[in-house]
Amino acid sequence: MRAIVTGMGYFTPKTRLSNHDLERMVDTSDEWITARTGIKERRILEKGKGTSYMAVRAARSLLAGRNIPADEIDMIIVATVTPDMPVPATAAFVQREIKASNCGGFDLNGGCAGFVCAFSIASQFIETGKYKKVMVIGADKMSGIIDYEDRNTCVIFGDGAGAVLLEPSEEEDEGVRDFILRLDGSGADMLRVDAGGSLHPATRETVEKKMHYVFQDGKAVFKHAVKGMADVSGRILDENDLSPDDMGLLVPHQANIRIIDAVSKKLDLPSEKVAVNLEKYGNTTAATIPIALAEAYEEGKIEKGDWVVISAFGAGFTWGSALFKWAMDKP
Ligand code: UT7
Repeated sequence: MRAIVTGMGYFTPKTRLSNHDLERMVDTSDEWITARTGIKERRILEKGKGTSYMAVRAARSLLAGRNIPADEIDMIIVATVTPDMPVPATAAFVQREIKASNCGGFDLNGGCAGFVCAFSIASQFIETGKYKKVMVIGADKMSGIIDYEDRNTCVIFGDGAGAVLLEPSEEEDEGVRDFILRLDGSGADMLRVDAGGSLHPATRETVEKKMHYVFQDGKAVFKHAVKGMADVSGRILDENDLSPDDMGLLVPHQANIRIIDAVSKKLDLPSEKVAVNLEKYGNTTAATIPIALAEAYEEGKIEKGDWVVISAFGAGFTWGSALFKWAMDKP
């Protein structure tokens, strides 16, 4: 039994933060951001709303598109680094709002690779025969943990959510074929939020020292991201006797167009086989892949029978890839 993607949904907030808006906030320019990242604008969720607001809307859109009631969902996994609050899990708010009355669920922090981790775990619930409908959500409100006075980070990140449904298929030749998940804590200092956890609970001092915001050593992360994503994307093809020519679409984490281009080049993939939407949304952390996958499907860039690779790299360092054969008919 294999796990196939049978539905998708996504949500991005209406408010846009353009490069020109950022020019008025920090010492940067549209030219620099466009050339160094490929990003033109990002979406920002209004104050008073948390990550679950977007996750719920992505989930509802998925259910409507698949035309199934929420009580058929067996499991909800939310990949996020920006839960609504430390306790309870954001999955609980999603379950409550969509009224999924027969499911289990939990959150998972895999940084920018969170969706690849959650998707891989979900595929195992299906393959073992334990569950029939597993909803995997990648959702992040990065604007809640970004310092809009720090040009190193505020130009990159944005808010969004994407959801994917996995179900079983008896067809051996479709669905999730493999995944590779990696973790290397020697990179833990290079992308982090220092306070708000058990090590440095919130105090006046942590707030004054801006310890609740994202810190990133961009150059170091960049270098490791190219190497890590190219490695797991190439390896997953090799280990499954596939070549880049056999690939339908690579859906990479959307952090920086230069990372995506370098990975594509290493894999020898032409640009039409690589999903890119970061110019519109920036880096939405766990949400980039499900949003890019859903948009690529809507735009007719994936067809039934295509091999798809998703690949991401982020805080931890954690990174990974998953390989699956697309089983949905055209939208
Ligand atoms: O999703 C999780 C994983 N995260 C990533 O994959 C992000 C990986 N890193 C990156 O995407 C890039 O490193 C950044 C986009 C964050 C930065 O780009 P970069 O080309 O690595 O720039 P840099 O940090 O090496 O800085 C180059 C120059 C510096 O000036 P000097 O020292 O050469 O005079 C920076 O001060 O650009 C300057 N700079 C900026 N200038 C205008 C840095 N940020 C900005 C900015 N606007 N926003």
